[in-house]
Amino acid sequence: MRILLTGGAGFIGSYLSESLLNDGHIVTVIDNLSTGSRDNIAQLENNERFKFVEGDILDRELMLKFVRECDCIYHLAAAVGVKYVLDNQLGSLITNVRGTEIVLDLAHVFKKKVFFASSSEVYGKNGGLKSFKETDDRILGAVNISRWGYAFSKGFDEFLAVAYHRSRGLPVVVGRLFNICGPKQSASYGMVIPRFIQQALKNEPITVYGDGKQVRSFMYISDAVVAIKAIMDKKEAQGEVFNIGSCQSISIADLALNIKTLSNSSSQICFVPYAEAYDNNFEDMFYRVPDISKIENIIGQFSKLKLDEMIKEIINHYRGN
Ligand SMILES: NC(=O)c1ccc[n+]([C@@H]2O[C@H](COP(=O)([O-])OP(=O)(O)OC[C@H]3O[C@@H](n4cnc5c(N)ncnc54)[C@H](O)[C@@H]3O)[C@@H](O)[C@H]2O)c1
Repeated sequence: MRILLTGGAGFIGSYLSESLLNDGHIVTVIDNLSTGSRDNIAQLENNERFKFVEGDILDRELMLKFVRECDCIYHLAAAVGVKYVLDNQLGSLITNVRGTEIVLDLAHVFKKKVFFASSSEVYGKNGGLKSFKETDDRILGAVNISRWGYAFSKGFDEFLAVAYHRSRGLPVVVGRLFNICGPKQSASYGMVIPRFIQQALKNEPITVYGDGKQVRSFMYISDAVVAIKAIMDKKEAQGEVFNIGSCQSISIADLALNIKTLSNSSSQICFVPYAEAYDNNFEDMFYRVPDISKIENIIGQFSKLKLDEMIKEIINHYRGN
């Protein structure tokens, strides 16, 4: 198949591109390199079935050309990362909302199937210690608290995708990704595991934002790629939203401790108030772990690597092993 992958020079997109090439597909990546990089796809560029186009999903004419030529689309391009989105507020909303609208509209015009990468951020600060199900309510913060803009934009995209399916029959699958981690993930835009590991390997303070009691789950990139491809292939998944993540949860303070131990680091673990890390208006969610029974009922078990194994893999990568 000829596959169009937006955001394919990013962390997840580059692994997904590689996997789709290994499956024998022809892959075209469109990416504006805002948070992605050519290095992420360097090993793919010699493959004659791979093509990289430096361009923007907001460029409708460019997108029209490549959507028309492909058989299906994985739409991953987005403004990503808490820090990046806070630093680029308007541009992030425009990319995530208008860009996705362009992708879905063109997919409808040319009758192409789409996978849309949403985010667990859409659950917002819905409290409690319960794992999130796709049908759960969402509670997002006020408009003066900028971090919620990303959650609103991804949530709007989900509604748009599902409406294109219901009103116009677009075959679209929405994956609500929880934290995904792996070697090529950048530490620059607010992602916690690469930041902690880099700090630990330099024996610098590991900086935990807030009190560290916030609970998260992390899934390894290879497991995420398996899930994304498998759910995209299922007819019964069309028009549906699926959590994609790991159920193994950990507090961020314990994550810092695990990383310090597994890397034999002498780093101190320091707690930095949110106001210092971001701004005075920052809000965080306490507990964010998925219920993945809906997707597992369709594609089977896919979350295989345990957190300590993931951390070791990423540490080895940074050490150059
Ligand atoms: N990594 C995670 O844990 C995670 C969690 C939830 C959701 N997601 C979603 O998965 C997708 C991929 O995320 P990632 O972690 O690989 O991030 P990433 O930043 O590495 O990848 C996003 C890519 O999109 C590109 N991009 C951004 N704006 C663009 C535009 N206007 N036109 C063309 N390209 C553009 C960037 O250059 C980058 O290569 C995103 O949609 C993100 O919201 C990721």
